[in-house]
Amino acid sequence: MLRFTGVSQEQLRKTEGALIPIAPLSIEHLPHILKHLLALSEHDRYLRFGYTATDAHIQRYVDNLNFDRDEIYGIFNSELEIIAMAHLALMEEAGRQSSSEFGVSVSAHARGRGYGARLFERAVIHARNEKVYQMYIHALSENAPMIRIARKGGARIERDGSETEAYLSLPKRNLDSRMTEFVADQYAKTNYSIKEDAKRFWNFLAKVQEIREGVRDARHQAAE
Ligand SMILES: CC(C)(COP(=O)(O)OP(=O)(O)OC[C@H]1O[C@@H](n2cnc3c(N)ncnc32)[C@H](O)[C@@H]1OP(=O)(O)O)[C@@H](O)C(=O)NCCC(=O)NCCS
Repeated sequence: MLRFTGVSQEQLRKTEGALIPIAPLSIEHLPHILKHLLALSEHDRYLRFGYTATDAHIQRYVDNLNFDRDEIYGIFNSELEIIAMAHLALMEEAGRQSSSEFGVSVSAHARGRGYGARLFERAVIHARNEKVYQMYIHALSENAPMIRIARKGGARIERDGSETEAYLSLPKRNLDSRMTEFVADQYAKTNYSIKEDAKRFWNFLAKVQEIREGVRDARHQAAE
């Protein structure tokens, strides 16, 4: 079992502000989310969900994502495919302190670049700004990178066999956390639209090339 005893401002600040564009996802991204999760290997699915999720389980998970209540984040490549995503499920119960559960996955080819850690930090900032000061992570004890991310976030780690659970107490929100979230969102939006423009431009160039080749072939045929 992993138990978080608190994250100091200093610990958060060390890793905040890294310029990785993390975009909040919405219903329009559902096909991308599904594609990203279905591409995870059997073992990664086991690490992510705590059981070997089948394609049907993943489809059901995606169908049930609640974008109004939860925060779901993505990191996109230049093809606008999701290469990393995180799900912060927010749980509110009348009369009890709100809490949240964090889950994350990074495409195998994009690991080790800090995406998992950045998504975790992004989720922490959002939870604080939503006045949710408890965060829970379920990780298997073999999951060294996830445990490392949690430990760096201020976790006290307690293992219980193959299962590891993390409870994180977050510091109260402040102006800094609100500004950080605002800036992160603006940066992600700008980055996404730059990638959209670039993708549109390359598609346009490919079409122009296609037309050019068509015209050239037609000229050749006419000349023969
Ligand atoms: C867990 C996971 C999200 C980590 O993503 P990632 O982007 O590769 O992680 P990061 O690059 O941010 O690395 C996080 C830390 O783990 C360390 N790390 C990476 N691989 C490691 C390994 N095999 N053993 C030990 N530490 C490792 C990194 O060095 C980094 O620590 P540092 O900041 O001190 O350098 C990714 O491996 C994954 O998607 N796994 C499958 C799904 C899963 O396990 N989800 C978590 C349960 S919800």
